[in-house]
Amino acid sequence: MAFPDGLADFRSDTVTRPTPEMRRAMAEAEVGDDVYGDDPTVNRLEEEAAEVVGKEAAVFVPTGTMANQLAVMVHTRPGDEVLCDEGAHVRNFERGAASALSGVGFRTVHAPAGRIEPHQIEVVMRAAGRFFPRVSLLVWENTHNMSGGRVVPPEVMDAGNAEARRHGLRIHLDGARLFNAAVALQVEPERLTEGVDTVGFCFSKGLGAPIGSVLCGDADTMAEVRYLRRMLGGGMRQVGVVAAAARVALRERKRLEEDHALARYLAERIADHAPEAVDPRTVETNMVNVVVDHLPRPFREVLSSVEAAGIKVNPPLGGGVWRLVTHRDVDRSDVDRLVAAIFER
Ligand SMILES: Cc1ncc(COP(=O)(O)O)c(C=O)c1O
Repeated sequence: MAFPDGLADFRSDTVTRPTPEMRRAMAEAEVGDDVYGDDPTVNRLEEEAAEVVGKEAAVFVPTGTMANQLAVMVHTRPGDEVLCDEGAHVRNFERGAASALSGVGFRTVHAPAGRIEPHQIEVVMRAAGRFFPRVSLLVWENTHNMSGGRVVPPEVMDAGNAEARRHGLRIHLDGARLFNAAVALQVEPERLTEGVDTVGFCFSKGLGAPIGSVLCGDADTMAEVRYLRRMLGGGMRQVGVVAAAARVALRERKRLEEDHALARYLAERIADHAPEAVDPRTVETNMVNVVVDHLPRPFREVLSSVEAAGIKVNPPLGGGVWRLVTHRDVDRSDVDRLVAAIFER
């Protein structure tokens, strides 16, 4: 479905708008004061979310950033380090929150597609001797945003989790796009979450809800998370109006397959013209990373043609990688228009 006025938006899956069914559910939602635990719609959503990922409890939060930051806060002490890959969202895109709010640093490893290997954990932990900060938490990201929505296969997580446990680490999964990963890997979400202590996921990305994420884990940890959420200003009141849309979103998660097929179509069309710019085989979910230096025109010109066609895109990140994202509010005709604009045919 195209945006109004023939516009299209490939910046992110966060630009998706609530569906008519979500809007209806929002209008009809039963609500109460969620800080008192009185919002039946939030309570139902939290139960459903916990069940989907095989955890005891869940806490509804406004954003994926808050889910990650609560996980960091609950699993660490000030002065600790968090082990993650160097491209991780929690380290790069959350405005330094982990340092500012939890007083932790990061110990990063170079792990393409977020696939951290056991020996990388081993090396970090071996180095953490007498003088270094204590490394207390391992964070996975699945799908992995910076690498263009790549998936971390369950066996890779299993091996890393086993190594992390050997060193007494807690484990958090940033599953902002967990269901994209599960759909692409053809596994139940639980298969990706069974070895972690906490997992966060977002309703507001490809699932299409307007607002909201959730953090899931065991009941004691989630009780503490609820305490910390209030500390961060995330205690919301009649938020069932939002949770109602998230419940619809959660039911529709299989639809993400369509976004993945569209991303592959986009990658293939770009590769038809510029085979060096993108490798369609690396497109596993709903993102396409394009190497701008391999496009036949200077990127400035590409961008002005794309914008002139009424299509919104983000500028490339460092390293000249341009991320394009598919979602429920773009379709094949939008992709065709985008490709035509990139190559100005
Ligand atoms: C992997 C990942 N984690 C966390 C977030 C944060 O989500 P939010 O924008 O809801 O704070 C994002 C947002 O794009 C993300 O891609």
